[in-house]
Amino acid sequence: MKPPAFAPDWAALRADFPILDQTVHGRPLVYLDNGATTQKPRAVIAALARFYERDNANVHRAIHELSFRATTAYEDARARAARFINAASPEEIVFTRGTTESINLVAYVFTPRLQPGDTILLTEMEHHSNLVPWQLLAQRTGAHLRFVPVTGDEGLLDLRRLDDLLSGKVKLFAFTHVSNTLGTINPVAELCARARAHGVISLVDAAQSAGHLPLDVQLLGCDFLAFSGHKMAGPTGIGVLYGRRALLDSLEPFQGGGEMIASVQFEESTWNKVPHKFEAGTPDIAGAVGLHAAMDYLEGVGRAAIGRHDEELARAACDRLRGIPGLRLLGPTEARGAVVSFALAGIHAHDVVTFADQEGVALRGGHHCTQPLLRKLGVPATTRASFYLYNTPAEVDRLAEVISQAAKFFGARD
Ligand SMILES: Cc1ncc(COP(=O)(O)O)c(C=O)c1O
Repeated sequence: MKPPAFAPDWAALRADFPILDQTVHGRPLVYLDNGATTQKPRAVIAALARFYERDNANVHRAIHELSFRATTAYEDARARAARFINAASPEEIVFTRGTTESINLVAYVFTPRLQPGDTILLTEMEHHSNLVPWQLLAQRTGAHLRFVPVTGDEGLLDLRRLDDLLSGKVKLFAFTHVSNTLGTINPVAELCARARAHGVISLVDAAQSAGHLPLDVQLLGCDFLAFSGHKMAGPTGIGVLYGRRALLDSLEPFQGGGEMIASVQFEESTWNKVPHKFEAGTPDIAGAVGLHAAMDYLEGVGRAAIGRHDEELARAACDRLRGIPGLRLLGPTEARGAVVSFALAGIHAHDVVTFADQEGVALRGGHHCTQPLLRKLGVPATTRASFYLYNTPAEVDRLAEVISQAAKFFGARD
């Protein structure tokens, strides 16, 4: 069947990623570890090189041409990020090191807002980055954590008791958009609306969705949203915290240092406006420039198209893997993101991943920073294949072939 005229030319796009054109252990590389980090297109690599070759200087502080260019590039990246997620203004975009730092920032600045006996609501499918910062906040303040349960292997949130869970002294509800272990796409707009109805602040962990699905923070109705550049074709070391302007204005700073102050006395200081109030010290300027290029690139392809491409590959992978004796597939059959996790009975995921690596297939095995979730599901570790726009149906076939060989080699119990 001929693809519709508006479909991206996926093969041409793949050629934008030079790293993919290589062999590993004598086999063509099949990179299926995109949930951990994605590869970078030439446009991003070139933007980083161009910045360091021509424009590098520190931002905001000096009045010379290069500093002006670096500051303009950095602030342009902020405006780009605001458009990328439809924030009301660039002031709602705080640059951070990534999702982890964005969440830690919120958890830290929320300290004065919590009292002993307050509650922070999470779900059972959170990455450690969206769990441990809240544990620390709970320890600091005497607040409790509560969790929306996960149904079982199909990996959905059990929302039947959500209104109960949101009742009482709940101050914040933090949850992932797409689960990095199960692939579940959560109904973010509904979760934010239900939180709001109870007067609860919402935080969305968009680490696995920002580069894969269209995101509109105003439509989603979230108060905070966090993502990482490196999981969406951008560089490592740069990420975003989106926060509603009024909320950011009302919070105290995270770290102290240069950039975040308005005036400093020996004994005390006053704070810069948002977002600078939350950006102490020299930021990752080149990272922001690279992230800008990544956002341009992804929007050129279209995130709705990327989401459909991911879904097709993930569905094909599930269909192929399901037939392998002894293989237990985790995660939903519908509304699945670019992630497919499974366990082979009696075989440790690390052995499967090592076997696949010898065949040139890059997978990830382990707890995927979701230890409590895997404990609940009764699996010590899973093997995870995660896809991105440059992956192909032929690579899904190769995955299925290699996993089938691994199951035979190690003797998976049926
Ligand atoms: C769902 C989710 N949240 C948070 C993170 C943490 O992202 P980072 O390490 O880029 O801060 C990850 C990384 O795998 C993730 O998958």
